Amino acid sequence: MKINGTHYRSIWHEDGDDGVAYINQAVLPHRFEIARLESLADAVEAITRMQVRGAPLIGVAAVYGLALALREDGSDRSLAQACAALLATRPTAVNLRNFISRARAGLTQIAPADRHAAAIAIADTIAEEDIAICTAIAAHGLGIIAAACERKGGRPEINILTHCNAGWLATVDWGTALAPIYLAHDAGISLHVWVDETRPRNQGASLTALELGWHGVAHTVIADNAGGHLMQQGEVDLCIVGADRVAANGDTANKIGTYLKALAAQDNGVPFYVALPSTTIDWTMQDGLAGLEVEERSAQEVLTIAGLDDQGALTRVQLAPAGTTARNPAFDITPARLVTRFITEYGIHAPQDLAGAVPHP
Ligand code: MRU
Repeated sequence: MKINGTHYRSIWHEDGDDGVAYINQAVLPHRFEIARLESLADAVEAITRMQVRGAPLIGVAAVYGLALALREDGSDRSLAQACAALLATRPTAVNLRNFISRARAGLTQIAPADRHAAAIAIADTIAEEDIAICTAIAAHGLGIIAAACERKGGRPEINILTHCNAGWLATVDWGTALAPIYLAHDAGISLHVWVDETRPRNQGASLTALELGWHGVAHTVIADNAGGHLMQQGEVDLCIVGADRVAANGDTANKIGTYLKALAAQDNGVPFYVALPSTTIDWTMQDGLAGLEVEERSAQEVLTIAGLDDQGALTRVQLAPAGTTARNPAFDITPARLVTRFITEYGIHAPQDLAGAVPHP
């Protein structure tokens, strides 16, 4: 995607470069900073600190991290240790496990001395595939937005609600939930996006609002609690969200708060779409996500908030009384029955058709 006319991906590796460049999302929207992965430790830190985040991007960054570990030491032991370190960074988004498993299966067939180059090639391939997948999701999702537009007679504009950030910053390029929105905007469809702020880390207010602004898409940030009210008032035509892990039966783990929006959508007859690459499906979880590990993050993310002070410096301020305890589950599970349709690179699927329509690896 373009920022002020310059094309960027969220992460990129150039031939001959020993490292990997990425946009540091921890300081957005206030600072635009390009950072580098030079080692496994850098990759582990970037993922853990959410300098790279979003299910597909976490997975791609992890495979580059694996490649950097194998540059130092291509042995079986190094491969196993690096995989374990990367898998421990963030437990819920399944792309990480899927991409690491794929890379590991290929690399064990290769001589240790050749593993670094092979791992870089695998990471580059997965990154390119992710872009192709998101491009296909955009095309399928465009049909949904165009149909909603037709139902409204083209005017007034279509109002879409989204949660968290499932845009190009969460993938390598384009995004999942935001990709159809970009394509619809580019096709001249008049649309406006309600952006859930997405407490506690505010990926909506900080990242989705930034992306939509860069692309020129009309949008309004709303407090997380406002979506249900707007749906009741008829101000939301459809919801599109991303996903971090989807079970074979369609139960969907996504950023905390997604479930409440899906409940409100159903109560108000608002279609609720989940856009995801097939790499976000966990085929080992057939029947719901009962065994899912939901990432628990620091209470400080709930008790404090980061932003710019009046001198323009990045700062963090306390919200709750000193000594208050907080709980911070990072994801929730939306039952498949609340999802109107899934949008994948293979098309648009009813929850009960997902397993049959999407090829299993
Ligand atoms: O904790 P994050 O910011 O990594 O969570 C991101 C989300 O929940 C996104 O909605 C999801 O990963 C889909 S990204 C295409």
